[in-house]
Amino acid sequence: MLIEWRPEFATGHHDVDREHRALIDLINEQDAGAAAVGGAGGTGAEALVGDLYARIGAHFALEERVMREQGWHEYAQHKADHEALLDELLEVLDRVTDAGGLPRDELAGRLARWFAGHFRTFDARLHAHHA
Ligand SMILES: [Fe+2]
Ligand SMILES: [Fe+2]
Repeated sequence: MLIEWRPEFATGHHDVDREHRALIDLINEQDAGAAAVGGAGGTGAEALVGDLYARIGAHFALEERVMREQGWHEYAQHKADHEALLDELLEVLDRVTDAGGLPRDELAGRLARWFAGHFRTFDARLHAHHA
């Protein structure tokens, strides 16, 4: 279990919270899978990061749409933080493709830190606005 859901992660927007939980579940499932196979590389690792990238990208698109609809004042900075994470994922994806091995611990650690930080700052402020 790399990252655990906490009540303070809730944004108060049902669809956003459901997706946050799904992303956390996905990260934990993949972490458990990685532990089981001892950190495999190759096409499995590539598919893993590609799947994460697609799911996280889809979530960010939803959240950004909610913010645009509301004319949310922190939209630009919030979107920039989303893009910083997607850039990190692309960098990891390049390394997987080049070296044939995924630095799973590094990826998992970065994701867990980023989500905990992002939920509690940008997404939490969005929640305060809804409440
Ligand atoms: Fe966000
Ligand atoms: Fe989010």
